[in-house]
Amino acid sequence: MKESFNLDSRLNLCASFVRNGVKVADIGTDHAYLPVWLCKKGIAISALACDIGQEPLQNGIKTIKKYHAENMVETRLCNGLERINDDEAQDIIIAGMGGETIAEIINGWPYAKNKEKHFILQPMTRSNELVEFLYKNGFEIIKQSCCKERKIYTVMLVKYSGNIENISKEFTYIGKLSPKKNALDREFLKMEIRNLENKSKGNEKYKIVAENLKKEL
Ligand SMILES: C[S@@+](CC[C@H](N)C(=O)[O-])C[C@H]1O[C@@H](n2cnc3c(N)ncnc32)[C@H](O)[C@@H]1O
Repeated sequence: MKESFNLDSRLNLCASFVRNGVKVADIGTDHAYLPVWLCKKGIAISALACDIGQEPLQNGIKTIKKYHAENMVETRLCNGLERINDDEAQDIIIAGMGGETIAEIINGWPYAKNKEKHFILQPMTRSNELVEFLYKNGFEIIKQSCCKERKIYTVMLVKYSGNIENISKEFTYIGKLSPKKNALDREFLKMEIRNLENKSKGNEKYKIVAENLKKEL
């Protein structure tokens, strides 16, 4: 009987931000690796593995069966968090989607503005748009790290603070990373600068942000 498995470094970094003894919801779960792993390791007491697609959810059901996690992990077909009640999830993971989609999902959930909830967010693209949304809506990044798995990824732990903060364009790219101290954070920022420089060809405003970010390396 297969009891557990290893996560790749991206999902492992997401898992490391989850609190002990909480109910988890993994939104856009696909294979349900994270919820199954978190329950099998005894980190989560229960988990909802949620996806908008039937096919990804079928992949999730296979993982749940393979590791005998049926009593701990429930699958749910839903768009974002729309069918998740307040008392069903304390730590919410949204990984492997664009930053703008993650922002929409948080925005659409009536229970998101609760200081007890933790959001573990891993945007694949447009993380700057996600950070902008978060600070405009009273959320803050508690901590942020990067990992490498072929490509470099960032993961942030976010919660509601109630403070609407005016943040700089540069902050939307750096967030709580420490590019001067940490090599992976630096690599992530260099990638963001390259993307900005590519976009900046016809646009002076991107160029200025890219130049300012270079001073943070
Ligand atoms: C690239 S996979 C990521 C799987 C896993 N979270 C990971 O990070 O490895 C993205 C998944 O998100 C799902 N998805 C996209 N938009 C969604 C939404 N609005 N609500 C729920 N699931 C969504 C897709 O069906 C897909 O299974």
